[in-house]
Amino acid sequence: MFSRATGTTPYQLPALMLMGVITLALTLLTIGARSPYTQANLDLGYDPNYTRTEQTLIGPPIPYRGANLAVPPAADPVEQGRQLFVIKGCASCHGLAGRDGIIAPVIVGTDADTLRKKTSKGPGGMPAYAHGALSDEDLAAIAAYLKAIGKP
Ligand code: HEC
Repeated sequence: MFSRATGTTPYQLPALMLMGVITLALTLLTIGARSPYTQANLDLGYDPNYTRTEQTLIGPPIPYRGANLAVPPAADPVEQGRQLFVIKGCASCHGLAGRDGIIAPVIVGTDADTLRKKTSKGPGGMPAYAHGALSDEDLAAIAAYLKAIGKP
């Protein structure tokens, strides 16, 4: 049957509408699938079951230093610690708040002695820092920062 008024057959309009609905559904599904909120690996928070690519060590491990930029002395040890936490690379794995890292555990409130132990041991999930890359003052400042942000 051919309708003179619209120039279409009776099935063309429903078919076009169906195609429109399918296109819209596919578009929304694509956006949904690519959204950061649906990507498990972009979830905030440490996932202890996070599977990392296997590491192959060639030769002796090279001690880590972080970006090794100079940190201007700050009067406030907490502020000094916050800057060191970023510059020495801790924040990139543990998260700036020490609790929102994707690949590393929560470390808020860790004392300086434990920091010394953990930063000199490696390589493992975490790199070993080079001897002298973190001074006692650096670790004390980082500990002060981790203590300060641990408060609710
Ligand atoms: C390359 C990523 C990475 C960097 C950089 C890094 N860490 Fe870690 N850290 C980890 C991972 C992964 C673990 C857990 C596995 C392990 O202990 O080997 C960890 C464990 C720790 C722990 C022990 C936590 C626990 O509950 O046992 C402390 C404390 C810590 N890190 C402090 C630091 C400090 C301070 C810095 C910066 C000077 C730093 N980390 C830099 C990845 C990192």
